[in-house]
Amino acid sequence: MLQRIQIASLKTPSSVEMARSAVIALYITICCVAFILSKIIISVLLYKRWARRRRIVEEDFCGGKMVMFRSHTTQSLSSKAFMKKTMKLTNKDIIGSGGYGTVYRLEIDEKTVFAVKRLNKGHAERDRGFERELEAMGDIKHRNIVPLHGYYVAPQFNLLIYELMPNGSLDTLIHAGKWSEENPLDWPSRLKIALGAARGLAYLHHDCIPHIIHRDIKSSNILLDHNMEARVSDFGLATLMGPDKTHVSTLVAGTFGYLAPEIFDTGRATTKGDVYSFGVVLLELLTGKRPTDESFVEEGTKLVTWVKGVVEEKREEHAIDTSIRCFQVDEVQKVFAVAEKCLEPDPSNRPTMSGVVKMLEEIKPQEL
Ligand SMILES: Nc1ncnc2c1ncn2[C@@H]1O[C@H](COP(=O)(O)OP(=O)(O)OP(=O)(O)O)[C@@H](O)[C@H]1O
Ligand SMILES: [Mg+2]
Repeated sequence: MLQRIQIASLKTPSSVEMARSAVIALYITICCVAFILSKIIISVLLYKRWARRRRIVEEDFCGGKMVMFRSHTTQSLSSKAFMKKTMKLTNKDIIGSGGYGTVYRLEIDEKTVFAVKRLNKGHAERDRGFERELEAMGDIKHRNIVPLHGYYVAPQFNLLIYELMPNGSLDTLIHAGKWSEENPLDWPSRLKIALGAARGLAYLHHDCIPHIIHRDIKSSNILLDHNMEARVSDFGLATLMGPDKTHVSTLVAGTFGYLAPEIFDTGRATTKGDVYSFGVVLLELLTGKRPTDESFVEEGTKLVTWVKGVVEEKREEHAIDTSIRCFQVDEVQKVFAVAEKCLEPDPSNRPTMSGVVKMLEEIKPQEL
């Protein structure tokens, strides 16, 4: 009898074993669900990427090749109509010019306006690499980056088609005083612009694959949209055009006054070099002065020595742009401190761009 009970208890699994099997079954179910979910997410991401990559290509278009990336702005646009208007651009439509070429305002209709950059022609053998880079640039979408809507490559010239930024560049806003009552350049706007530009640059440095080094961060490459939100422009152009095609007074790409000191020695562009240039832009926003201003370079004083002096002697509120009438001293001090860190002579002592974003966000967390 006892033997029979023992055999019966051996056959029925104990409650511990049952609980264990239930746990294993649960694990297996969770793993299956997670596996299926990850497959779905990957498929959605791949589809989105593919959808973004869809583009309108017109080969042999007026002797060249026209490519428009599909977007909300371009979907109703005919590339023929676009090209017709482009061919009619004259000096009257010029909105600016830089080291790589001339920028025109191109109005298709009331709602559709572009900034078309006509590039000085590079070498023919560069064109394939050029197109590959442009395809990658067309994929980059971020609220603090100027979108590239398309390009045109022809034997005589190349065109880049950007979204038009209605409030122009930070350079003109600060140095030509081109701001208005509705779009002022007061202290809160400057703080917002600094953070927006930092976010755009941090996106290029940390979130794009492969990571992108801008190489020419300066106030004229920070543009303002209709909300006065900062948008970084011309990323990748320094790489695309090569140093020999730029207007810079150095052998490396970049603009004098914004270049990190180590670049003169190494000639190598790094993300920390961009951080230095961003520090210079912060100083422009704070002081309203150009990086080449004589007060910065007086008696050979370097920018970094100048900021250190201001911070150490607590002279921040006297160094601030006189056109800023109302500001919080502690906020100004904090932005000076961020600029000081970005301008550290040793690149390894400079923060990363995501570090810069964090520091700027902490200045006015409730509003930014
Ligand atoms: N997408 C745009 N929307 C509105 N204005 C623009 C746009 N792109 C450029 N601009 C204007 O055209 C000017 C010239 O731009 P461009 O990029 O050619 O020269 P830069 O920025 O001064 O120097 P670099 O050639 O080194 O970039 C800018 O300062 C800006 O005012
Ligand atoms: Mg530019």
